[in-house]
Amino acid sequence: MCCTKKFDFTLEPVNFFFMNEEMIKEIRGLKKEKNAVLLVHNYQRPEIQDIADILGDSLDLSRKALETDKDVIVFCGVRFMAETAKILSPYKKVLLPVYEAGCPMADMVTPDELIEFKKKNPEYKIVTYVNTTAEVKAESDICITSANAVKVISDYPHNKLLLIPDRNLGNYIKSKVKDKEIMLWEGYCPVHIEINLNELRMLKDEYPDAVFLAHPECEEVILNKADHIMSTNQMIKYVKESDEKVFLIGTEQGIIYRMKKENPKKEIYPAGKFINCPNMKKTDLSDVLNALKYDQYEITLPDNIITRARTALDEMLKYS
Ligand code: 13P
Ligand code: SF4
Repeated sequence: MCCTKKFDFTLEPVNFFFMNEEMIKEIRGLKKEKNAVLLVHNYQRPEIQDIADILGDSLDLSRKALETDKDVIVFCGVRFMAETAKILSPYKKVLLPVYEAGCPMADMVTPDELIEFKKKNPEYKIVTYVNTTAEVKAESDICITSANAVKVISDYPHNKLLLIPDRNLGNYIKSKVKDKEIMLWEGYCPVHIEINLNELRMLKDEYPDAVFLAHPECEEVILNKADHIMSTNQMIKYVKESDEKVFLIGTEQGIIYRMKKENPKKEIYPAGKFINCPNMKKTDLSDVLNALKYDQYEITLPDNIITRARTALDEMLKYS
């Protein structure tokens, strides 16, 4: 009885490992058969990062979605990212493996609220973080990502701007672009605001030589302590190219898997215990396999939304 139980226990992980290998093989086969590409955000689970064709940040993945010659894009990330891929490649099939993989910040501004603002404030141009729905982008003048926000806004030839939805990214941009009137929305990322000053102080005491890299979605008190404020791809590049050996990473902790893999001799720590985006972690190998097998879940958007949202994304690509 006791031995059978033990035997059962040991079988599980072996079986699980075997299943992973089997699934990966099937995913590779289906990708070839369907002429599909796997775009994966830096926050995804390790096993999803490992099978990526392209691993990157929002800006990078948008560009790759635009350039790909594949027929199908499987987007392992959250819904607004897959929608962006669809807007940029409307004739391709774009699949989001987990239907409910959303972004709470993207839902903090609705098209109706924005239309209302525009009616009351027609002199403002609407600058929209990519972390928004396609419908909100369609009501916008220009988009930004964390990688290009300061450059795009500095070069954009308008002075009165409403920036939606992230107030933290907005405050950071305001600190860099002083000659424009920038109004902010009250949105925020519930994951990045979990990075708190007390914990950061303790970590800095523990690792006094660490370089602290923070994402602009962190709150101002945290950004004030950062050595560099960067998008996820910029952090990846920085850690790789820097001569420094110890890093504290102020963004979703999924990125640390990639950093450690690419820099086995460097010490890389998350800048807090709870920097975990549950939506980014919803996708597993079986979801990717099912996405390819059953063409799920296909992103479909009305033509007029695609056309108008595309204008805002094209404006961004022009200045970035
Ligand atoms: P990046 O564009 O820097 O990858 O960030 C995306 C995101 O969702 C941050 O929370
Ligand atoms: Fe959205 Fe924050 Fe998750 Fe990024 S980390 S997808 S902004 S909830």
